[in-house]
Amino acid sequence: MTGISIDASHDVRDIALADEGRRRTEWAEHSMPVLRQIRERFLLERPLAGRKVSCCLHVTTETANLMSTLRAGGADIALCASNPLSTQDDVAAHLVRDHGVHVYAIKGEDHQTYYTHIAQALSFGPDLTQDDGADLVSSLHMIKLGRLDDLAAPIRRMVEGLSAEERRALVSRVKGSTEETTTGVIRLKAMAKEGILAFPIVAVNDSRTKHMFDNRYGTGQSTLDGIIRATNLLVAGSTFVIAGYGWCGRGLAMRARGAGAHVVVTEIDPVAALEARMDGFEVMTMEMAAPRGDVFCTLTGNLHVIRAEHFTRMKDGAVVCNSGHFNVELDLDALGQIASGRRAVREYVDEYLVDGKRILVLGEGRLINLAAAEGHPASVMDMSFANQALAAEYLVMHEATLGREVHRLPAAVDAEIASLKLAAMGASIDVLTAEQTHYLASWDAGT
Ligand SMILES: NC(=O)c1ccc[n+]([C@@H]2O[C@H](COP(=O)([O-])OP(=O)(O)OC[C@H]3O[C@@H](n4cnc5c(N)ncnc54)[C@H](O)[C@@H]3O)[C@@H](O)[C@H]2O)c1
Repeated sequence: MTGISIDASHDVRDIALADEGRRRTEWAEHSMPVLRQIRERFLLERPLAGRKVSCCLHVTTETANLMSTLRAGGADIALCASNPLSTQDDVAAHLVRDHGVHVYAIKGEDHQTYYTHIAQALSFGPDLTQDDGADLVSSLHMIKLGRLDDLAAPIRRMVEGLSAEERRALVSRVKGSTEETTTGVIRLKAMAKEGILAFPIVAVNDSRTKHMFDNRYGTGQSTLDGIIRATNLLVAGSTFVIAGYGWCGRGLAMRARGAGAHVVVTEIDPVAALEARMDGFEVMTMEMAAPRGDVFCTLTGNLHVIRAEHFTRMKDGAVVCNSGHFNVELDLDALGQIASGRRAVREYVDEYLVDGKRILVLGEGRLINLAAAEGHPASVMDMSFANQALAAEYLVMHEATLGREVHRLPAAVDAEIASLKLAAMGASIDVLTAEQTHYLASWDAGT
């Protein structure tokens, strides 16, 4: 615990790091031309004027550029981390000092502090929230449903200090929320299906300019970067076992192969498995892959994908990590139980001894690309955060009419973001001729 009271205006490691955070944020900004253009428009139009926005996102240089865009739009912001290891402390300091954002995030914060910070972002009293993993929205719904026992202790204590009327007001003030990642969207769709959503959600992850690029190229590159930074291993000639061949898994498989690894894919969906096979990867069960792999990485959004029976079959020195949203993909409790010893052998590397063999777990099983590297490159976050900024504006513009469901941004927004990105990259595309437009809209021509 940092000892900070719930009312403090920020909680960051060291405000003196702000200069470094500012330099690095400016570096990222150069690769974010789409977000820059949105920021310029927001400065003129102020679509978020007077709105309080609470954000639970990875506190990185790219997020800092999103925060300054929302500020340009007129928003007052509280920001906490969406993962205890993903905060860049210099960026947190820069946002507090130079943009007046209420940041509650410290890299490596313990469980209690992590949830205290979420409680602080909630007690900011937002009109809108932005989540990466649905932490804010699920807490607000636990409060609404009176399920205080399901809240982490620091959030429960904050709520217990509120009257029934204040609790109701906290939830009813929220007019909408945006969600960044696959895992969060899955949870929110489950809430919508149960009919309990209290406000509309925009699933930013469902935009094509988000998941096709961020999840695939961003996660692919930054996950490999995280594994290399944590271990300095040679990828060429190694066997990578990749669990999950969705957008993220495809990206990592592509990049690991490009760096010379032999790639094995495990899946539970026959179509995704078939795609992996036809993309040229070996496909097998985790049980079969366990003795083969040098490096294991889960990217499934699922629970306990690598379990005790897999750890016991692994080679001496096997490297195991996760790049899915939560650290539950690896059953680390089970590993702890079967291990005869555990020690930290290097920053971000814990060695477990299982039957005399060393199993090397990276970043405590948390998103390795954010724990050991810097997360996605700015150029790809440019599109993800363009979607976030426009989603916030969309929620404000349509607050009177949007239903309490999980929405996508209109396809025209996707097309606009892609067009701006293409233009910034110096690429041009053809336009339909009148004849082609007619042909594509008819059924009787061309036979
Ligand atoms: N590291 C990052 O920066 C980052 C970025 C984006 C998304 N994510 C997270 O990564 C995870 C995956 O996201 P995605 O967009 O690729 O999702 P996706 O739905 O496209 O793919 C997930 C794949 O995992 C497979 N799967 C599920 N259970 C499995 C199991 N037990 N064994 C093997 N495969 C299994 C599914 O069949 C699916 O093909 C989510 O948790 C998401 O939130 C992380």
